[in-house]
Amino acid sequence: MIRIAAVGDLHYGTRPNPGFQESYAALIQEADVLLFAGDLTRTGRLEEIASFLEDIRYCRLPIFAVLGNHEYQSGQERRIADQMEDHGVRVLEGHSVEIQVRGFCLGIAGIKGFGGGFLGACGCEFGEPEMKLFASHARKQGKRLAESLEGLKGDFKVVLTHFSPIEGTLQGEKRELFPFLGSYHLAEPLDFFGVDLAIHGHAHRGQEQGVTSGGVPVRNVAYPVIRAPYRVYSLEPKARPMIKKNSWARTPESITS
Ligand SMILES: [Fe+2]
Ligand SMILES: [Fe+2]
Repeated sequence: MIRIAAVGDLHYGTRPNPGFQESYAALIQEADVLLFAGDLTRTGRLEEIASFLEDIRYCRLPIFAVLGNHEYQSGQERRIADQMEDHGVRVLEGHSVEIQVRGFCLGIAGIKGFGGGFLGACGCEFGEPEMKLFASHARKQGKRLAESLEGLKGDFKVVLTHFSPIEGTLQGEKRELFPFLGSYHLAEPLDFFGVDLAIHGHAHRGQEQGVTSGGVPVRNVAYPVIRAPYRVYSLEPKARPMIKKNSWARTPESITS
């Protein structure tokens, strides 16, 4: 068994959160890895990410993160990511890693993701250049996630995003906002590659638990949803279903699009 601690949407201002530093310092007794699902700042300023880094200063777990849309607000997303990396947080943006945890190999793929909506109510690459840009960015985020999962080994595979891959964890949000909260393009790779757990944030008024159409558990760990410095999810070894051996590019969806 391995234990994944995760949270997103902490939206730090210029001060650390009371008690969080102690929580993350003690987390090694409860979890094996700590994931942050983006929106760690309010307006993407360096002093805000510094508040976050102060709170995780004494955490001794491997830490991985994706950026959220708020980290882009001030145009300093690259410097924010660099600061996080300098303090031991591995920032994933279309990357994957494999780490050894309690005798298991844990594969983690991460990307911010994007909006775009869900089947039956999504943007499409048609018409004005702005709409094509919006819809194609969502599709390309899904493609990059698939590429980062292709070849990823692991007894367990976890995907970390900021935007949601499914509608299920958005329930509670206004339906009109769904196209700005996630994209079905992020869900297809989860099912195709047999991911064990998908973590996201961004949907402050959503719900914690959901599942993809292929049965992959999805958890929305936005702080306003879980109302705690982290939530811990345990992954147990299980018999894996056979995963299709053809490449991602040859999925039926891709062939017809
Ligand atoms: Fe947020
Ligand atoms: Fe967000």
